Amino acid sequence: MLSDWIPTLATVVALVSASPAMPAEPIVIAHRGASGYLPEHTLPAYALAFGQGADYLEPDLVLTKDGVFICLHDIHLEATTDVEQVFSERKRADGRWYAADFTLEEIRSLRAHERLEDRFPQDAPGFVVPTFEELLEMVRGLERTTGRRVGVYPELKAPAWHRQQGLPMEERFLELVRRHGYQGRDATIFVQCFELETLERLRALGSELPQIMLFGGEEHDPLATEAGLDRVARFANGIGPSKDRVVADPELVARAHARSLLVHPYTFRADRLEGYPTFDAELARFYVELRVDGLFTDFPDLAVQFLAKRGLR
Ligand code: G3P
Ligand code: CA
Repeated sequence: MLSDWIPTLATVVALVSASPAMPAEPIVIAHRGASGYLPEHTLPAYALAFGQGADYLEPDLVLTKDGVFICLHDIHLEATTDVEQVFSERKRADGRWYAADFTLEEIRSLRAHERLEDRFPQDAPGFVVPTFEELLEMVRGLERTTGRRVGVYPELKAPAWHRQQGLPMEERFLELVRRHGYQGRDATIFVQCFELETLERLRALGSELPQIMLFGGEEHDPLATEAGLDRVARFANGIGPSKDRVVADPELVARAHARSLLVHPYTFRADRLEGYPTFDAELARFYVELRVDGLFTDFPDLAVQFLAKRGLR
């Protein structure tokens, strides 16, 4: 019906204010690369995601002892590398191996592996922890050889903790991305963080890069209110809520859109369906019914195919 296509005022505002970095069409964000198929946070997983048509590649970022950004989800190394075997004596008193205690050269000597036992074989050789710069250089190379652009969607992990360790992230991060050409509000990047202070600090440092405020547990509930979203809109271009939060509070999407904030929920996993008969049914709920602007998925190929089938890309 034609009336189904009449946009709301909030949608019009969002479309008018959309920039190339904030596309009006829903996007596919490759969560830790195509991590449903290859070990998360490895260059092969990111390359596959690019080949599968993802719009953005998502790395989580932590710092090494010598201040290098690496693509890693945890501040610890043991869930996705063989650090326990290689550096058995280097754990802290709490029994954990922290990336911030190892130089890049040391981390390079580790074998990276998939986190989840039922995915890519965890004993497979040949994978290493990449630096963020290596990912950016691969992106540039793929863009040159294929002629297709792809965005990056880095998440600064635990900035307050890193600062306590003497490794502040924000200035170092801005210097790096500027050096790689990411500057201004139209850059093909979304900078995401669970810590509001970091996104505010990046703005105070002069960054105009698109920013996404991640919403996790109840500590972020105050930001999901009308007043909270007003505050978020002052330093961010969108929100990244857990998909459970969106299901529990579907009006969150409209409240965000009313402030021209994009909504990119996480994380969509075809091999871990919860409450949906098929992955397409889950994607339809979010992309079509809830009208989110993009989503994080371990299976970017399936989200790309879904959007194509629905005429949404
Ligand atoms: O960054 C969005 C989503 O990835 C947040 O969860 O734990 O996978 O980084 P996590
Ligand atoms: Ca993340």
